Amino acid sequence: MSRFWSSTAAGLTPYIPGEQPSEGRMIKLNTNENPYPPPPAVLEAIRSAAGDSLRLYPDPNASGLTAVIAAYFGLAPGGVFVGNGSDEILAFAFQAFFDHDQPVLFPDVTYSFYSVYANLYNLPYTGVPLDRQFRILPSAYQIPNSGIILPNPNAPTAIHLPLEQIRELLEHNNDRVLIVDEAYIDFGGESAVPLIAEYPNLLVIHTLSKSRSLAGLRVGYALGQPELIEGLNRVKNSFNSYTLDRLALAGAEASFAEEAYFRENIARIVRTREVAAAALREAGFNVTDSQANFLFVSHPAVPAPVIFRKLREQGILVRYFDKPRIDNYLRITVGTDAEMAALLKAMKQILPEADSL
Ligand SMILES: Cc1ncc(COP(=O)(O)O)c(C=O)c1O
Repeated sequence: MSRFWSSTAAGLTPYIPGEQPSEGRMIKLNTNENPYPPPPAVLEAIRSAAGDSLRLYPDPNASGLTAVIAAYFGLAPGGVFVGNGSDEILAFAFQAFFDHDQPVLFPDVTYSFYSVYANLYNLPYTGVPLDRQFRILPSAYQIPNSGIILPNPNAPTAIHLPLEQIRELLEHNNDRVLIVDEAYIDFGGESAVPLIAEYPNLLVIHTLSKSRSLAGLRVGYALGQPELIEGLNRVKNSFNSYTLDRLALAGAEASFAEEAYFRENIARIVRTREVAAAALREAGFNVTDSQANFLFVSHPAVPAPVIFRKLREQGILVRYFDKPRIDNYLRITVGTDAEMAALLKAMKQILPEADSL
């Protein structure tokens, strides 16, 4: 606490990102990054953009990238907004669409940044309980609200909500915006993008950080009808005109031309996920049905913090959230086959040891 902080700064509880260790020897399964590199053409595009033109500001409207994304999804360019990671877009969206009259609704177990943004903007919010199997219940959202936000698949549970239930949420909430944060949708879920034409209250947010191996480039995008995109632009242009730099614009644009690489990369991760999930179940873990690039697991006999600590001692980083309902779970990013084999091997050492604690 400092006497120089504003009352806003003093009142914040910032999000704590997963650890990014400086030494490269850790097996990093803690921040849902992609274990495979971006395609060579993306790296080449970034290298070519690193030239004299860096003297100049980038295009404040990101017109080139916006047009590429619009064409990829069969939308008009006015239906696309791009930002510095989807986190930035989420922050803009909270400001653009949610109000103080009623609470913002999101699942009680979900991406921890949502409550951070609500606090930042002084928006009231309600965590709507998941059921006992950690599923989202659309009927529970039929209460007064100033908007709804949820990830699909949900994080950190990895569980996917079928499209029909997204439709139900939209139908029962047609005066307010529903934001579907599809950070992990490419790993198996069914996207809500086809519903955009039908529902003016739907905003879908994607990121290049996970399925496109570009967490370090910081690019996300939102898709919706033009009036929602204009709302985001109003907030963005009252904050920072140039949220994406020239290198990010070039790399992101190139990424959408690499469809075969993208699909193969995802297929590989999904295969590894299924093998790892089966092996963890075999080792006694409860594993939710994941449609994401991570697994959400708990062991009936050994507390999650113990496993977390022992994995760390063996150089393997996973994510642990000391929060109600999920404090006996670990979130494990799907890495390469070799990384998952190392994780399994470490687990098999830890479990019998910890059993006798
Ligand atoms: C549900 C969810 N939404 C959004 C993000 C943010 O992604 P980025 O800011 O890298 O686009 C994450 C990152 O972990 C996430 O889990």
